[in-house]
Amino acid sequence: MARQWILNSQDGFETSLEYQQNVPVPSADQLGPTDVLVKMHAASLNYRELVIAGPIGVNGPITPPVVPGCDGAGIVEAVGSSIHEFRPGDRVVTVCGPKIAESRGDDAFATVADVVSMMGQGIDGTLRSMGIFAEKALVHAPRSLDWLPAATLTCNWPTAYNALFGLKGREAGPGTWVLVQGTGGVSVATLQVAVAAGATVVATTSSEKKAARLRELGVSHRGRGFDIVIDVGGNETLPQSLAAVRVDGQVLALGQVGGTADNVPMYMALLHTCIVRGFLGGNRSQLKEVIRFIDEKKISPAVDDVVFELAEAKDAYRRLKEKKHFAKVLIRIDQD
Ligand SMILES: NC(=O)c1ccc[n+]([C@@H]2O[C@H](COP(=O)([O-])OP(=O)(O)OC[C@H]3O[C@@H](n4cnc5c(N)ncnc54)[C@H](OP(=O)(O)O)[C@@H]3O)[C@@H](O)[C@H]2O)c1
Repeated sequence: MARQWILNSQDGFETSLEYQQNVPVPSADQLGPTDVLVKMHAASLNYRELVIAGPIGVNGPITPPVVPGCDGAGIVEAVGSSIHEFRPGDRVVTVCGPKIAESRGDDAFATVADVVSMMGQGIDGTLRSMGIFAEKALVHAPRSLDWLPAATLTCNWPTAYNALFGLKGREAGPGTWVLVQGTGGVSVATLQVAVAAGATVVATTSSEKKAARLRELGVSHRGRGFDIVIDVGGNETLPQSLAAVRVDGQVLALGQVGGTADNVPMYMALLHTCIVRGFLGGNRSQLKEVIRFIDEKKISPAVDDVVFELAEAKDAYRRLKEKKHFAKVLIRIDQD
């Protein structure tokens, strides 16, 4: 029997999340040809999980009831007859947009229309002890990581990879200056990939305690016109991001965790003579590439210093909402 969280509606996680126990699990001979049965060992939360659980906003509607969460890691228990990429015993990490890879290939990028079909919103996600996933919903986990850090990769790390290497001819490397905002998941992942690529990274934070952890991860203090600015605040922070980017540098408009503010006109890109690039995550190929990069560079993804059990997922959502976390809010599912 499995345990899982279900999102029944979008009235906020306190109301809409329901914990279920004794959920039946199919046996290996009951699997469909395209099913992969995975025992989940760990999961983690993104800001999107708060948005999806709340009143319908930028992410759009859910398909209820749906298991929330897109980040997770586990072990393959059994596979259907048409599965070629995985075998029982493989360690796997989930993919946020498997429907995109199924319909348009591993190199395809998400459009806004794809958002409603993503894991933890349109299809069942990772806050469960056992579940069936499609082949394109999984990739092999890094050899070098334990379950908890492996369970933080799905959303933020391909995003970081796309941000730093996605625009050909402008990849980050030695001599590149990168500015990241805050100590949330996507910012810290980008920081760590950039440092491993040899770039110089400056980070902001509202917390002195979190600043100490940023220093441990190798951030610098000096500022200059940045080659790459990772903007997660949205309209509230974009004017500062545009002021911080160098001539012909890039502002990556990725998020909107900041407060409400007037829309920043496109015309500002001309006044600051820079590239402004928006995108939604990375594709399945980029998740595989960043996993290879993590193994090669021996990166240890930074995680929060609190770990929640699956049954405590609402506490995990609270920690995320209150912005008490560093990098990623962790949920342990099964470690044996
Ligand atoms: N487009 C994409 O591909 C993509 C992919 C992933 C995430 N995102 C988006 O990126 C945003 C961050 O996601 P996440 O999961 O990393 O969130 P998160 O883990 O909840 O990060 C929140 C952190 O952002 C910082 N922050 C909050 N308000 C800020 C402000 N006004 N100015 C500067 N920093 C601020 C704070 O850091 P301190 O506590 O250190 O101050 C806060 O702890 C979300 O909007 C998410 O939807 C986009």
